[in-house]
Formats: sequence, C-alpha cells, structure tokens
Amino acid sequence: MSRSARAVVTGAGSGIGRAFARELARRKGAVVCSDISVDNARETVRLIENAGGRACVVPCDVAQRSDVEHLASAAIEYFGEPPNLLINNAGVGAGGRRVGTIGFDDWNWVLGINLFGVIHGCEIFAPILRSTQRAGIINVASAAGFNAAPVMGPYCVSKAGVISLSETLAAEMVGSGVSVTVVCPTFVATNVAHNGRISPGPVEFAARMAARGMAPEVVARKSLDANDRGSLYVMPQLDAKLTWRVKRLAPALVTRGMAFSSRLMGVTDYD
Ligand SMILES: NC(=O)c1ccc[n+]([C@@H]2O[C@H](COP(=O)([O-])OP(=O)(O)OC[C@H]3O[C@@H](n4cnc5c(N)ncnc54)[C@H](O)[C@@H]3O)[C@@H](O)[C@H]2O)c1
Repeated sequence: MSRSARAVVTGAGSGIGRAFARELARRKGAVVCSDISVDNARETVRLIENAGGRACVVPCDVAQRSDVEHLASAAIEYFGEPPNLLINNAGVGAGGRRVGTIGFDDWNWVLGINLFGVIHGCEIFAPILRSTQRAGIINVASAAGFNAAPVMGPYCVSKAGVISLSETLAAEMVGSGVSVTVVCPTFVATNVAHNGRISPGPVEFAARMAARGMAPEVVARKSLDANDRGSLYVMPQLDAKLTWRVKRLAPALVTRGMAFSSRLMGVTDYD
C-alpha cells in the first residue's frame, strides 16, 4: 500500500506525522496532510513539493467528527477516487498528575484527541477503505498503551483504547484486503512533550527522553513496511519489544517495575 499510495495522514504538521507524509511521498504516493495547525501542515506540504512530491493540506481537528467527515470527502475529491491508506497519527502528550487530581477537563481533552480522534478516523474511513481493492490503516498508539506509567492516566488509557480498537478492526478486516497496523513506540525525537499538557517537572523529563528517542523517520519507515507485510503490531524500539514480551509473561511485575522506576526518576513527585 505504501508504494504510490493515496494516503491521508492526521497530525501531519510535526514529528511522526510529518515523517509519515514525507516517506509516503518519497515512495511516490500522494498525501493529504491534515493537522489542527494549518501552518505546520502547509510546511510539510512545502517540504514534499520541494522534493518533487504531491501533497495538499486539509485542516482537521480529529476530536471533531464533522472535521474528520470533511477530511474524508476532501481526500476523495483530491485523489479523484477513494484513498487507500489512512494514518491515524494525531495525538497529544499529557502527564504529571495522579488519578484523583487530573480533573475532567484534561481527561476529556486527551481522550477526545488521542482516542476519539482514532475512533472517528476508523469509523468514517473503514467503509471507504473496504471499497478499494487493497488498503491500509495505521494507528499510532504508544508503548504506554500496554505499559501503564504513574501520572500518565489519560494518555495510557487513550493508547490502550487505540490498541484495542486496532485489534478489533484487524479481526474484522481479515479477508477484506485492508491491512491494519498499530504502532507502539517508546520515546521518539519529536516535540510531543512541549505540545501537550504536561506539568513543568515531568515535561523536562519527557523532553529529555524524547530527545534521546528514535528518529521519527525510522518509526515511519518501519510502520509502513509492517503495514505492507500485513503485520498488526509494530514495536519500533528494543525497549518496546522487551516490555511487550515481559508484560505477557509477568504483567504484575511490569506494573511494580513502572512504579519503582518512576519513583527512582522522581516522576511521581510533581502533583
Ligand atoms: N514522541 C514520542 O515519544 C511518542 C511516543 C509514542 C507515541 N507517540 C504518538 O505519536 C503521535 C504523533 O506524535 P509526535 O510525537 O509526532 O508529536 P508532535 O507533537 O510532534 O506531533 C503531533 C501532531 O498532531 C497535531 N495535533 C494535535 N492535536 C490535534 C488535533 N486535535 N487534531 C489534529 N491534529 C492534532 C499537532 O498539531 C502536531 O502536528 C501521537 O499520537 C503520539 O501520542 C509519540
């Protein structure tokens, strides 16, 4: 699917989304770059066009169902036929408060974008993708979706939901020609720490860890290759692969380990 794809990427204005859009264009695809930040999406399109690729901007707040409905019709109009690859990538970081002190505003904000954004994408695009001969959906979750960490409640819940939705969809799509992939990275070198709602202490920690993380271009390449192969799960880094396996063997140990390592790093002391 990733070669000469007709692709729609959400959150294409920065980080992993921009890397997906550029890699797809490099693979001779045409890309609808959507983002809540139109200026950043325009910059992605400019980079693609400067490299000889084909792309356009469609503004879209994934938390708004009507925006995602508009994104689907704008993509069909741009390509002149249905898209055959959807990348539900848009997401925000959040953290720094224990359950009981988070507040419903933050719960709603994070779940609205990270989980409902992906639900909107899957619900609206699934019939469109099914209507094509071969197609793909890539949902960007996180290792936090199976490796819950203290003071990251809404983020972990949202990403666990994305993994579960992807697994459901993959089972429903067997035999349909639509390949479903869920990506579960640990740290990736993007601006996610600064773009979200993270308390001042943890934001420095998250930014430091992200800066040491995997390049978004590598995550994009691995994810597209996995979707082409029909692989459901992508754990791009070694630590993601290891915790994924250990979680299956000794789940309670992972939870204790997360509590211990977070305390050791001072991550739970900020609320
Ligand atoms: N960077 C990491 O360490 C890391 C690790 C695991 C998972 N992820 C996930 O990767 C995805 C991409 O994040 P990133 O690291 O590239 O961060 P980023 O902040 O660099 O990019 C996120 C993009 O999403 C856009 N966005 C935010 N809210 C939106 C909304 N409501 N509608 C549409 N677009 C919106 C932003 O404008 C931005 O362009 C997210 O889902 C994130 O949770 C990131």
